[in-house]
Amino acid sequence: MSTGYSSKVMEHFANPRNVGEIPDADGVGKVGNPVCGDIMNMYIKVKDGVITDAKFKTFGCGAAIATSSMATEMIKGKTIEEALKLTNEAVAEALGGLPKVKMHCSVLAEQAVRSAIDDYLRRTTGKGLEMKSDEELHEHEMAET
Ligand code: FES
Repeated sequence: MSTGYSSKVMEHFANPRNVGEIPDADGVGKVGNPVCGDIMNMYIKVKDGVITDAKFKTFGCGAAIATSSMATEMIKGKTIEEALKLTNEAVAEALGGLPKVKMHCSVLAEQAVRSAIDDYLRRTTGKGLEMKSDEELHEHEMAET
């Protein structure tokens, strides 16, 4: 039976990269999807404005695990500015696509990255990102599904 998932999604789900915590992280993000209840924690290490390491812990569905795995791979070695441009669509594309009903899971990965960067900026500059409101996020999710 076909799962509707690409082989890359299945591979990242079965063998996720960068799982775990960074105890002395420079930024920690935590996001949850109120609809499904899934939770994603993201940890980043930053040196001279570059993300040198990223790890995650996701308590969620297979697509959430695969997208957080791919997102950590994609932001490692990037500057903060570059990492902020990472979209959920780009993560899904890098995974060979996601079933439509699972696109909202990739939104969680994008938000986890932003949340970790927000925490990093707050710690270093005292000012975080302008986060999207819950309402905007909700609209975004609705548009994706
Ligand atoms: Fe909750 Fe995928 S079903 S993030």
